[in-house]
Amino acid sequence: MDKLLEPINSFLHCATPDSWVKAAKQSENLTMLLTDHMICELKAAQTAMWLIRKYAVDKESGDALLAWLHPYEDFIYRKKGSLETIKDSNKLSKNIQARADAKYGQDLIDKMVLLIKEELHHFYQVLEIMQAHGIEYNNITAGRYAKGLIRHVKTHEPETLIDKLICGAYIEARSCERFAKLAPHVDDELGKFYISLLRSEARHYQDYLTLAEEIAGTDISERIAFFGEKEAELISTPDNEFRFHSGVPA
Ligand SMILES: [Fe+2]
Ligand SMILES: [Fe+2]
Repeated sequence: MDKLLEPINSFLHCATPDSWVKAAKQSENLTMLLTDHMICELKAAQTAMWLIRKYAVDKESGDALLAWLHPYEDFIYRKKGSLETIKDSNKLSKNIQARADAKYGQDLIDKMVLLIKEELHHFYQVLEIMQAHGIEYNNITAGRYAKGLIRHVKTHEPETLIDKLICGAYIEARSCERFAKLAPHVDDELGKFYISLLRSEARHYQDYLTLAEEIAGTDISERIAFFGEKEAELISTPDNEFRFHSGVPA
C-alpha cells in the first residue's frame, strides 16, 4: 500500500489535515460522507464521458455512452430506480469508436471507458454500503473543491483539455489519499472498501497525468505545479461545508 501511495503523496502538495479526518470519522457525518462519495463517483464518470464525447468519439458512440449513464443520473437527479436497477446497469451497448477526424483517439477512449466502468461500479458499491447502513439517498449541493479547480482551466485549446486532464489527476489523487487516510478510522467493512478502491483510483490519477503529458507533447510540469498549489489551497484552508473533498472544517 505504501508503494501505491508514494507517488500520490509526492504529487499532492499537502496531506489531508487531521481536522478533516476527525470530522469525517464522526458518525453524524457518515451520511454526508457516503452521499458525497457516491455523487463523486457519478461525476467522475460524467467528466470522463464528457471528455471523450467532446474530443474523440463518433455520434453513435456518443449516444451509447449517454445511455450508459442514464440509470445513474436518474437515480441521483430524479430519485428514480434502486440498488437493484443500478446493479444491472453497468453495460455499454457498443464498441466505442473514434471519429475519423479525432485528434486524440483510441488511447483517450480506452482509458476513459475503463475509468467510467470502474466509477460506475464504485457508485453501485457505495449505494450498497449506504443501504446496509440504512442511509436513504438525498441529493446534496456540491462543495467548493471541483469548481475551485475548474475555474483555473484555460479557455483555449489544447490548453483546456490539458488543464482538465490535470484537474482529473488531482481529484483522483486526492480521493486516493483520503481513502487511505480514512480507512483505519471507519468500521471494518467500510475500511476494507476504501482500501479496495486505492488501486483503481491510483491508476485513474496516473492515466489522467499520462494523457495530459501525451497530448501536450511538451513539458507541462509548471502547469501541474500550478494546479497542485490551487488544490492544496482548497484542502488546507477553512471550508464551511463538510464534503469528501472539503478543506479544513471551519
Ligand atoms: Fe471511483
Ligand atoms: Fe477514480
